[in-house]
Amino acid sequence: MADPLLSFFLLLLSLLLSTTTTTTADDAATFLKLASALTPTPKGWSTTNSNDYCNWNGVKCDSSNNVISINLATQSLSGILPSELSTLSQLQSLSLQENKLSGALPSLANLASLREIYIGTNNFTSIPQDCFKGLTSLQTMSMNENINLESWVISTDLTESPSLTTFEASNAKIFGTIPDMFASFPSLQNLRLSYNNLTGGLPPSFANSEIQNLWLNNQEMGLSGNIEVLSSMEQLSQVWLQKNQFTGPVPDLSKSKNLFDLQLRDNQFTGILPVSLHSLPGLLNISLSNNKLQGPVPQFGKDVIVDNSGLNNFCVDTAGVACDPQVTTLLEIAGGFGYPVTLSDSWKGNDACSGWPFVFCDSSKKTVTTVSLGKQHFGGIISPAFANLTALTTLKLNDNNLSGPIPDSLAKLSQLSLLDVSNNNLTGKIPSFATSVKLTTTPGNPFLGSGGVPGSGGAPSPGSDSNTTAPGDGPNGKGIGGKKVSPGLIAGIVVGLVIVGVIGVFLLFKINIKKKRGKSGRVNDQENGDGISALVTNGSSGCTKGYGVLSEIQSQSSGNHSGRNIFEGGNNVISIEVLRQVTDNFSENNILGKGGFGVVYKGELHDGTKIAVKRMEAGAMGTKGMNEFQAEIAVLTKVRHRHLVALLGYCINGNERLLVYEYMPQGNLAQHLFEWQELGYPPLTWKQRVTIALDVARGVEYLHSLAQQSFIHRDLKPSNILLGDDMRAKVADFGLVKNAPDGNYSMETRLAGTFGYLAPEYAATGRVTTKVDVYAFGVILMEIMTGRKALDDTVPDERAHLVTWFRRVLVNKDSLPKAIDQTLNPDEETLVSIFKVAELAGHCTAREPYQRPDMGHAVNVLGPLVEQWKPTNHEEESTSGIDLHMSLPQFLQRWQADEGTSTMFNDRSHSQIQSSISGGFTDTFTSNDCR
Ligand SMILES: *[C@@H]1O[C@H](CO)[C@@H](O)[C@H](O)[C@H]1NC(C)=O
Ligand SMILES: *[C@@H]1O[C@H](CO)[C@@H](O)[C@H](O)[C@H]1NC(C)=O
Ligand SMILES: *[C@@H]1O[C@H](CO)[C@@H](O)[C@H](O)[C@H]1NC(C)=O
Ligand SMILES: *[C@@H]1O[C@H](CO)[C@@H](O)[C@H](O)[C@H]1NC(C)=O
Ligand SMILES: *[C@@H]1O[C@H](CO)[C@@H](O)[C@H](O)[C@H]1NC(C)=O
Ligand SMILES: *[C@@H]1O[C@H](CO)[C@@H](O)[C@H](O)[C@H]1NC(C)=O
Repeated sequence: MADPLLSFFLLLLSLLLSTTTTTTADDAATFLKLASALTPTPKGWSTTNSNDYCNWNGVKCDSSNNVISINLATQSLSGILPSELSTLSQLQSLSLQENKLSGALPSLANLASLREIYIGTNNFTSIPQDCFKGLTSLQTMSMNENINLESWVISTDLTESPSLTTFEASNAKIFGTIPDMFASFPSLQNLRLSYNNLTGGLPPSFANSEIQNLWLNNQEMGLSGNIEVLSSMEQLSQVWLQKNQFTGPVPDLSKSKNLFDLQLRDNQFTGILPVSLHSLPGLLNISLSNNKLQGPVPQFGKDVIVDNSGLNNFCVDTAGVACDPQVTTLLEIAGGFGYPVTLSDSWKGNDACSGWPFVFCDSSKKTVTTVSLGKQHFGGIISPAFANLTALTTLKLNDNNLSGPIPDSLAKLSQLSLLDVSNNNLTGKIPSFATSVKLTTTPGNPFLGSGGVPGSGGAPSPGSDSNTTAPGDGPNGKGIGGKKVSPGLIAGIVVGLVIVGVIGVFLLFKINIKKKRGKSGRVNDQENGDGISALVTNGSSGCTKGYGVLSEIQSQSSGNHSGRNIFEGGNNVISIEVLRQVTDNFSENNILGKGGFGVVYKGELHDGTKIAVKRMEAGAMGTKGMNEFQAEIAVLTKVRHRHLVALLGYCINGNERLLVYEYMPQGNLAQHLFEWQELGYPPLTWKQRVTIALDVARGVEYLHSLAQQSFIHRDLKPSNILLGDDMRAKVADFGLVKNAPDGNYSMETRLAGTFGYLAPEYAATGRVTTKVDVYAFGVILMEIMTGRKALDDTVPDERAHLVTWFRRVLVNKDSLPKAIDQTLNPDEETLVSIFKVAELAGHCTAREPYQRPDMGHAVNVLGPLVEQWKPTNHEEESTSGIDLHMSLPQFLQRWQADEGTSTMFNDRSHSQIQSSISGGFTDTFTSNDCR
């Protein structure tokens, strides 16, 4: 037995010895191969004889002629590296950067002496799978700018390199997630993975790392989840996270004393910036634009370069000014839920009683009395700040994913009469509420009240507890705190975050959540309520002085309905002096309305003609350049139709953008439908309602007729339908839709849209066709019939979503009379008319876009209903039709010409439009999609 074993060992030994002794020879052979592979041959190298390789330029050997370093950087070398490179077992340093090397990178696996690898700025086409295995001495891996690589994922083989200090692979075709392996790199200082296609969250093992420079910016699809983990990375000095899909609040970074450059723009960050950020001692450079940040605009030191020009959801637009106390409280409450995106988008401005969803106020519209956040899929905790809403009577938090206790402070709410926290996962003792409070804690909450769950008890501080960050964050379905969340639950949560208040319904519609993460999702999420404000960027092109334009305004807005175009010269710039003068220096008395986009003022010209001046908030401004802004305005001012509110001109004054519209004296449809009592209007008659509906249909139909679906309403809803003295309606705030990424006209592609009016395919995928408007129009018809809002949290859940409820009503026609607005009190004849409108509404809100009619059909259905009352104004009817300025068709022609580059109208939606036009619609009309 012993002999064969011995001889085996001897054999093995001799083999080992032979490899060792032939290493040098192999190095020579390897260099011959290398020299022949490179073009041009490096200076001083030979392709015929490599005996002298240790003296070649850029080559270093140790005393045994083992190569320890190769430096061929920046020599315009092309060629494919020989796989024999992997035999240079003593190699410590390999510098091949800034050449044109191509082909597969040879495997460097198990080069245990290799400390530095520089292969950036080359033309390699692939990386072998095991490339990073066994690099036990590796300190620097630098391979930026290898744009011809096949897509690859970062291998956890790197964990065999515990000395790693620098890993750079930006613009190198990496996809997949950043592996959670950073506990293996106690010395890592530089991590640069910019311009790749990384997805998923920041790995939890970033925590407590020594990373100083973290560049993860500009990912193709975007990294996501929250960035809470940064708060424990004390060595951070430069953090580039711009252009990703990060969510949640910006954490407290006060431990990172060396942080000087923090790039956060173009993400989905929510919440209030931590105060500590303002006082970071070394901060030099910070960008915040184009997020969904809330609360006050941060005020940084004088020396800090701040990019805060683009969209955010700050409560006011002046730096350092505090939010209204009630707003502050509600933001703190949102913080308890981890600042969900939905609440950032829907709680805009500085007045919680200005129609914020989920929030209801007393009749004076000053004080919040109801907060209704049931079924929102919120995680996190119930903030003790609820106690500051001292007039609160109703608080619904049921059917969420809330944990932690019911704060004791809630028992101090003296007006509270209803508290529903059922179907959560709350713990701790139940505070002693007054007997007048109707308290609902079950079903759900198995651990509530028993006091039996360890660690539950005191109220955690809201927003700062990393265990309560928004659910669904972090990689692989794990919250940063390590709580496991099932993928299914995440899917549910994502849906919940995307579509406020209509979850049940849209789940039925089988939303494809993943697509939401795509590009269109990124832009579409930035809801902005205003058609044009979103286009505008900072800059300071001045306004023309003088009054030349004033006469044009006068003639345009003098109340005639001819639709004649006055702006022959295309001049629609109006001076700020004029606007100051006509609005009495933007006097409070002249405020017509406020919204997320800014304030609208009434202006009165010297002859008494009125205009509406929308003064947009700096925070409501997008990233479009001045030329594009002016180009869009130039087009929109030329779009004239009897049922579209005319844009008369604009003004740019420093950072401000002002838009001038024709004035509509009777306010908007929402006021007449939902607030008529408070505002002292008589209820709308059925005749008025149908006439308004027809006006809207005509306005939108006209928009759709322009440039083949390139004009679409961004946010069709009753508050964007304005009424004239004669109670005839015009549609406001429409805009252009065109995805022209490289075109001269990169018109606004970011669509807004208010929950409740969003077609399912739009809500889920951001897919935009004219059928999105048709859906919204159908919802408006339902509101017109019922006098109820598209989303109404004050009624039982099964009735809260108007479309779902109304379509159910439609199944049984007998139930319709009970469902309609009781002020209508219809006679037989009216009821027939109501049935027709109801049928149209059902049809318009069909689930599938192709099942919905086009706007022309709506006009055809509504027209005869209005006809029966005879047109009130014959002249008006006769001037219906399109009145285009000369340059508009030209513009549109050009626009259509690059329609081919459009990605907005993908093939499917195109063919759907086609089919609905060409008769596909008649097939579906009689289908039972209303039932
Ligand atoms: C890089 O590689 C690609 C694909 O192999 C090739 O088409 C291209 O010409 C190369 N570029 C250079 C600069 O060598
Ligand atoms: C980015 O990666 C995703 C999968 O993670 C893939 O679907 C997508 O096509 C990639 N994008 C590009 C531009 O490679
Ligand atoms: C600030 O950041 C921007 C964008 O990354 C960069 O262009 C600029 O040079 C930076 N300025 C300073 C002072 O670091
Ligand atoms: C809530 O009320 C307390 C006590 O009045 C006050 O100190 C605190 O600042 C308030 N918080 C908010 C968010 O308004
Ligand atoms: C509810 O909370 C308890 C204790 O905090 C926890 O053990 C349990 O897993 C939670 N249940 C769910 C469904 O999250
Ligand atoms: C958060 O989670 C960590 C680890 O999961 C735990 O140690 C800590 O106690 C938790 N904190 C709170 C406030 O629940």
